[in-house]
Amino acid sequence: MTKTKNTSGVGNAINRVEGHLKVMGKAKYATEFPVENKVYGQAINSTISKGEIISIDTSEAEKLDGVLQIITYKNAEKLKTLEGVRPEIATDTIAPVLQSNKVHYYGEYVGLVVAETFEQAQYAASLVKFEYKEDKSAVIDFEKSKEKAYTPDNGSNYSRGNMQKGLSEADMVVEQTYNTPIEHHHPMELHATIANWDNGKVLAYASQQIVEDATISISATFQIPKKDVRVVAAFVGGGFGSKLNLERHVILAVMASKMVKRPVQVTVTRTQMFTNTGLRQQNEQKMRVGAKKDGTLTALSHETLSHTSTTQEFQEPCGMVSKMLYNVPNNEVTYKLIPMNRQTPFAMRAPGEATGSFALESAMDEMAWKLKMDPLEFRIKNDTQTDLHEEKPFSSRLLVECLRIGADKFGWKDRKAEPRTNAKGNWLIGYGVSAASRNSPYKETHAKVLLELKEEKVYATIQMDATDIGTGSYTIISQTVSEYLDLPEEQVVVELGDSDFPVTPGSGGSWGAASFCNGARAACENAIKTLKNNRNINQKEEIAIAELLKRNQLTKFEAEGMAKPSSEFEDYSIFSFGANFTEVWVDKDTGMYKIKKMVNVGSAGKILNPKTAYGQIIGGLTMGAGMVIAEQTRVEPNFGNFITRSFADYHVPVNLDMANIDVIFLPEEDKIANKMGIKGIGELGITSVAASISNAIFNATGKRMRDLPITPEKLIEAELEEGVKA
Ligand code: MOS
Repeated sequence: MTKTKNTSGVGNAINRVEGHLKVMGKAKYATEFPVENKVYGQAINSTISKGEIISIDTSEAEKLDGVLQIITYKNAEKLKTLEGVRPEIATDTIAPVLQSNKVHYYGEYVGLVVAETFEQAQYAASLVKFEYKEDKSAVIDFEKSKEKAYTPDNGSNYSRGNMQKGLSEADMVVEQTYNTPIEHHHPMELHATIANWDNGKVLAYASQQIVEDATISISATFQIPKKDVRVVAAFVGGGFGSKLNLERHVILAVMASKMVKRPVQVTVTRTQMFTNTGLRQQNEQKMRVGAKKDGTLTALSHETLSHTSTTQEFQEPCGMVSKMLYNVPNNEVTYKLIPMNRQTPFAMRAPGEATGSFALESAMDEMAWKLKMDPLEFRIKNDTQTDLHEEKPFSSRLLVECLRIGADKFGWKDRKAEPRTNAKGNWLIGYGVSAASRNSPYKETHAKVLLELKEEKVYATIQMDATDIGTGSYTIISQTVSEYLDLPEEQVVVELGDSDFPVTPGSGGSWGAASFCNGARAACENAIKTLKNNRNINQKEEIAIAELLKRNQLTKFEAEGMAKPSSEFEDYSIFSFGANFTEVWVDKDTGMYKIKKMVNVGSAGKILNPKTAYGQIIGGLTMGAGMVIAEQTRVEPNFGNFITRSFADYHVPVNLDMANIDVIFLPEEDKIANKMGIKGIGELGITSVAASISNAIFNATGKRMRDLPITPEKLIEAELEEGVKA
């Protein structure tokens, strides 16, 4: 038996292997596991931004049928608490809750009611009365609190060359500030868990992106051994960063289970998703760009002012793109944070790039306008094959190709340089471009493959604690096993999302595909290698896996494998690149606008499955459009609560808002990045989309929009930019 060319191997556009389960309602999300004897917990939120609880009246709630337990700081178990001043939040951070009568922000959990039914728990929660002593010194207004900003001590400020010198060498300088509001992740599946405490052991079905870190977080918070904690996240209905870390509802559920001695289900409500599961913080980004008349960049600085909570530190790396995207010798990136009485922000949808590239790629467009240069040519002129920040060559960088091919596909040559000159009736038509870069991490990943020979056919089951957050992990891992064992996809079973399986880095930061697939590859290669060694078969001999098992006289066999970055990896800077093109039509009287067309070209290494990859990119483009047209969490300026509390007022794009979308991947395999040549695409899709739309709006209207979201009223009120003819 020789190897066959497998049509379900990597690179093929097969359907999602778990698609059938999903449409049949058989894919189990956190609260869909049939756990017997479970009860329901409903969390209660604070209604002040800062202060103390001075009394709690639970008497009404306790009288209700079905109520089993009411937990507040008074009877909550003592947990490990945060140490130091605002420790940095990470994906495995502890999540203490109900540890004192202090309130740090509006919406913080102050209690949990446990009852036999969901309805009983919800109703009882509404009857628990809290009295507060409010501290009026709460920091809730970003604009009024800027003098409280500090420089985080995390080594992220950066400079090279001499910014002043760079600016003095420039013929033109752009100095502008770009604002992005608080946004929320809002995956379709609410954060939720069913947790059980059984004799010191925890089992939590929980909607998490990284099950390994979830076990660390639970064990560290309760101070129990990690081996006694099992987290299962077989299917995750989106995360967008909000499920990278373990949020406090899981700790509440475990604590409650310990008290009532039954499994406890806690679902975070959509309104609580605003206050208890992270957020993208408001950013004020000041850009300074200097360039020579011929378009050569001489200086670039990127200053970000943002906020964190009063208890933990998170700082979004907005300046990341400005350090490495262009060939600019003088560069400065700085950060400041205002500690505010709001929940701790955390990573959301390309943290750093999504917002940072809005500022950078808007400023680049502004400079091109000043220089009277084509913004596409301006970017190409400043391309670099070396990452000047890392001082390393890029493993591969096809940004210019992305821009050129995209321009051709989009019809960029028809763009009018002068705003307001391309019109159809009342519509002003504009074209915008932006460049995207997103680093491609690759992390140590373990996997186990179990082989079974039945009636001449080999069936393979791969196990790893990787998650599929809607991205297609099941499918691409299945394809990898198909490829490396040379088996049709029907003979491969993928089992994910269980901390009992071999450890992976989970889903996040665009590292999933490269890490998971190389881990699965390593397990398959190890299986073959071991089976050959056992029978002294030359490793180079091509021999089918069924034959190998037979020669070993085995019907069952299992092997583990591990993949991690090689030393070569250290010598290069590894990023995915992309280009975004957008056509918008703006009604010149009402400011209403439509995104008509988008072209996205990506260079992201080996594309494992064009179909799921396409899904990733259109998702990213839609989220990028969301940043521009709608997404914004509003804060009540006196009380510090969010006044956007549901999808009725926190708007996201729907099908009608979206455009004709073309997605192109350049054929590429980056063998420096990893053995399979994979780079990340998860976050590439959203990166720089906002700028391409905003730049198109400028090209249409001559109005430079520097505050997201760009609403029609803001657009009507904006002045024409200098040099634009009315
Ligand atoms: Mo992503 S924001 O690392 O899930």
